[in-house]
Amino acid sequence: MGLGNLMNGMAILLLQDGGSFWMPPQSSTTAAEVDWLFFFIFYLSIFFFAIIVSLTVLFAIRYRRRPGREDPDEMVHHNLALEVTWSIIPLILVIAIFWAGFKAYMNMATPPPNSYEIRVTGQKWQWLFTYPNGWVDGELHAPAGIPVKLVMTSEDVIHSLYVPDFRMKKDVVPGRYTTTWFEAPEVGEHNLFCAEYCGTEHSGMITRVIIHEPADYLTWLENAASFYEEMPPAEAGAEMISRFGCAQCHSVEGKAGTGPPLDNLFGREELLKGDKTVMVDENYIRRSILDPNVELVRGYQGVMPTFQGRIKDQEIDWVIAYLKQISEHYEEPLLMPIEELDETAVQGETVEPATEEQPDVEPDGPPSAESESSAEADQA
Ligand code: CUA
Repeated sequence: MGLGNLMNGMAILLLQDGGSFWMPPQSSTTAAEVDWLFFFIFYLSIFFFAIIVSLTVLFAIRYRRRPGREDPDEMVHHNLALEVTWSIIPLILVIAIFWAGFKAYMNMATPPPNSYEIRVTGQKWQWLFTYPNGWVDGELHAPAGIPVKLVMTSEDVIHSLYVPDFRMKKDVVPGRYTTTWFEAPEVGEHNLFCAEYCGTEHSGMITRVIIHEPADYLTWLENAASFYEEMPPAEAGAEMISRFGCAQCHSVEGKAGTGPPLDNLFGREELLKGDKTVMVDENYIRRSILDPNVELVRGYQGVMPTFQGRIKDQEIDWVIAYLKQISEHYEEPLLMPIEELDETAVQGETVEPATEEQPDVEPDGPPSAESESSAEADQA
């Protein structure tokens, strides 16, 4: 990256709406206190740095060895008043810093009673947020003006949930729950990062925080599921790919990432680890989502987390519909335009594109390949 790009990126990062040159906007109730404490310590350090450095330079010049100036007969070894002063003043300052820091820390570490609760799962390399009604989303939606408590855990390694605009950062640890909280007074959008290096796609472990008016938030939550139900299945599937963070590792433009690309995949014969092959069909996709490390595509590491218990059957159907749409190995079942169909021939359901059976899948490989694939994976 060139210096120009770097400066550009920094400028964008620093000069967001409401931010200053130094800091992102203060978008939570605790942000002002954190910034105050930061600047207090910062300017205090600058003050003493300036005094010490300038006196050092001044004394070095003023009291340098010169002809005609002899060493004093007697060195000054002790000055009680001076020593008490330079001990008491820093002591008071350090106690003040500790007190202000401790207060701010306790405030940030203790969610107010009756906070609204959202569950957070960190996993390589995405965030999943589980709302009180069971809805799982890749973005953090929350109501404005209400304290929100995050109960967080990790599926694999240590991650760290970081929202600079809220001055909120907390580690997300496997095998235990950590909690943090925030209250965002204003409606708006913020960036959420992973702040703990967690592997190759660490830098892609980004999502958004969306703060709604409380009433809008409840409407969003109610509609979240049905919103996708009203879309064409393939479109909903594309949304699932981003909602569940699949795109972090799986390209849809043919590029090999941490995981194999998803385009032109459906209906193809795939070479697996251990020299087995599998026909990529509905069942293979389903197994790969729920039990991802059993039938690994050759050349890839088994690092994908399972989505068992997080993704619903219908959502898997949508993903499958989307993968069909972006695969040249799959042909849409031929459908005559409705008006050309004889009224008597229309038999309701039979006209709908089948999602279970694919008579038109190109038989690239022997049909027996699929049954072989359910055999146990190569452990080597
Ligand atoms: Cu998760 Cu870095």
